[in-house]
Amino acid sequence: MKVDVLLGLQWGDEGKGKIVDVLTPKYDLVCRFQGGPNAGHTLEFDGQKYVLRSIPSGIFQGNKVNVIGNGVVLDPALFKAEVDQLMASGHPLTERLLISRKAHLILPTHRLLDAANEASKGAGKIGTTGKGIGPTYTDKVSRNGLRVGDIELNFEAKYAEAKAKHETLLKQANFEYDLTELEKEWFEGIECLKKFAFIDSEHFINKALKDQKPVLCEGAQGTMLDVDFGSYPFVTSSNTICAGACTGLGISPKSIGNVYGIFKAYCTRVGSGPFPTELFDQTGQIMRDNGNEYGSVTGRPRRCGWIDLVALRYAIMINGVTDLIMMKSDVMDQFETIKACTAYRHKGVVTEDFPYDIQEDIEPIYTELPGWKTDMTAVKSESDFPVAFKAYIDFLEANLGVRIKFVSVGPDRAQTIERYTTL
Ligand code: GDP
Ligand code: IMO
Ligand code: MG
Repeated sequence: MKVDVLLGLQWGDEGKGKIVDVLTPKYDLVCRFQGGPNAGHTLEFDGQKYVLRSIPSGIFQGNKVNVIGNGVVLDPALFKAEVDQLMASGHPLTERLLISRKAHLILPTHRLLDAANEASKGAGKIGTTGKGIGPTYTDKVSRNGLRVGDIELNFEAKYAEAKAKHETLLKQANFEYDLTELEKEWFEGIECLKKFAFIDSEHFINKALKDQKPVLCEGAQGTMLDVDFGSYPFVTSSNTICAGACTGLGISPKSIGNVYGIFKAYCTRVGSGPFPTELFDQTGQIMRDNGNEYGSVTGRPRRCGWIDLVALRYAIMINGVTDLIMMKSDVMDQFETIKACTAYRHKGVVTEDFPYDIQEDIEPIYTELPGWKTDMTAVKSESDFPVAFKAYIDFLEANLGVRIKFVSVGPDRAQTIERYTTL
């Protein structure tokens, strides 16, 4: 049995949570493979809205097993808050959520270091979510990290050692802080974590595959935030791309089946960094208002712009995308004209290939298409697509070279149109 991977192709917030929830009935296991509570994955159904940060988005669909993989970084305090919220809304978790022993823990001091690093960068700050993601992955790579499995073994001493190292760094940075409340919540979070099964998730997932159980891997962030291939240094600290599913879960590249690449019919970004098609005018504001483009974790307004096909083609290439999923088509319902960036003029030269540096001297070259001027939220099937909308899809498919399998026309689970079935 192969595993399918669903991942973001832009700068995150493409709608991954919604689609994982929609796809989950077809799978036995849903596994998160990277990132942490910097993610905010929104799901809406039965008139309710949920935002998940570390818990996979398959958690609401019956008795499916959800796994937090080794590539994830977990903050016990935020994890407890998420668990408490889901439990209070009547969703049982303990039986169906398993956690890799190899997942790294975000310490309270990691959050402080994140803030200190950002403060030291001044105007050049990344605009992180402030959840301690960078410092935790730094400790992982420099072999100083604390893992979920450590909770079972001499934990207090290991915690004290890591904390002492971080406090030295915080003092060097002259960063003022008070750990009391943060630590209290964190240790309460550790007690909450202990209620869940810690597993060797690589064995668990590979056994499931051997037993012919279908597995879906859920990505966080998006390809343009990948630490290797994104708009470095304005990226997150993990591999958000398809290869991240292999390292973040312990599955072989040979096991990858379908790769679902998800994108918005336009483009957004939150935090600092280059964004060639960004709009600073009324059109961008309409996208923000219609799309409710405010961060689901931080509440920050998201920057909005036209779809960038140069960046999308790059993301499709890096991930080996087999099928595309287009989200939030309804947000552009009222536009007379829609623009799609098909090439860049980079340092005076026209290129269709994504360049090394998109920070300076990038001018997007656009193709203009007619808008559909139809309320897409009411559309139930492809046969009801307006002609101009169908033309937009045909244009994108021809330019990107991959078919669009799903079209999403609203935030609700039910507002999803499947255009063809995948074998
Ligand atoms: P994720 O991080 O990729 O899971 O995406 P987020 O949840 O951060 O952001 C996507 C936002 O768009 C959420 O508020 C969703 O409820 C909403 N959403 C998802 N699909 C659609 C859609 O097709 N139309 C509209 N209008 N909103 C959508
Ligand atoms: P989901 O999974 C959008 C952005 C931050 C910042 C950069 C680094 O909901 O799509 P970090 O805290 O990771 O060190 O921040 O990455 N970022 C996201 N933007 N959606 C996300 O997650 C993001 N996670 C991180 O805004 O620019
Ligand atoms: Mg999000």
